[in-house]
Amino acid sequence: MITLDAFIQGDSIEIIKNFPDNFVHAIISDIPYGIGLDDWDVLHDNKNSALGGCSPAQISGGGLFKRRGKPLNGWSEADKKIPAEYQKWCSQWAKNWLRVLKPGGTCFIFAGRRYAHRCIVALEDACFTFKDMLAWEKNNAPHRAQRLSIIYERRNDFEAAQEWDGWRVANLRPLFEPILWFQKPYKTGGTIADNILENGVGAWNEEALRKYNAYEDTFSNILKVNITQDDHGLHAAQKPLKLMELLISLVTKEEQIILDPFMGSGTTCIAAKKLKRHYIGIDIDSENIKIANERLNSSEQYEIAL
Ligand SMILES: C[S@@+](CC[C@H](N)C(=O)[O-])C[C@H]1O[C@@H](n2cnc3c(N)ncnc32)[C@H](O)[C@@H]1O
Repeated sequence: MITLDAFIQGDSIEIIKNFPDNFVHAIISDIPYGIGLDDWDVLHDNKNSALGGCSPAQISGGGLFKRRGKPLNGWSEADKKIPAEYQKWCSQWAKNWLRVLKPGGTCFIFAGRRYAHRCIVALEDACFTFKDMLAWEKNNAPHRAQRLSIIYERRNDFEAAQEWDGWRVANLRPLFEPILWFQKPYKTGGTIADNILENGVGAWNEEALRKYNAYEDTFSNILKVNITQDDHGLHAAQKPLKLMELLISLVTKEEQIILDPFMGSGTTCIAAKKLKRHYIGIDIDSENIKIANERLNSSEQYEIAL
């Protein structure tokens, strides 16, 4: 028996194995990106000390990342396996996500830019259709690309500093995040229109884009939703509530069921409740379940106060 409108604490890879077939209308999840943002985000077996360790800035709490996410001195054989290990981790849950989703149903996954391709391959191999890659355009993101001239000046190599003035290392400002859009294949021989009548999913709703997408072309696959003050402070990877409302209302109707197997502070579920959808949220960390319950209670009070 499945309890709807509930948060479950535990390993979603194991928990979902016991869920029935074809019962959720959408799976919407901000999965671990595998880049070492926190302990739950280390999804490889590499014991390389640079990867497992912390820099002085990370120890003193100045850095966002708890551990180094990439090797500092090039690729050892163990380092090279990290992307494939991430794909293997995605394969552990992909088949069961397909099984529990209704035919034609959507699976939206937030995956990091570095390993999103691995997630796509794992879900394709599990027989999902990869429908599109949406871009969530953020209003801001930290920019850490170092100036080469400063590095050389610190070494007193003023000639190199002058030659490389205006050049930087590391990434451009990461102002978009990919949202992967997968669909569960529907009955062979039937049309999508038949499937929608049978299973209630497979289409997208224009009104959701008009209401939430601030991008100049409302129907584009670039979704512009700002991070507001209320979207901070509950989880290191917290997503904006309005963005989750957009995704939920884009592919589901009221009373349908949304599953988030990596729910963190529960943003997907709070948005689902607000939009009168049923939800099931799972997180391995009991602290997150507590935070999500507090959020849920305060959102109820807020609704009553209105
Ligand atoms: C990227 S965060 C989600 C944050 C969320 N978008 C929010 O707004 O708060 C991913 C979450 O997955 C959880 N997690 C990692 N592995 C898990 C597992 N095997 N089962 C359930 N939850 C897991 C982590 O505890 C983390 O909170």
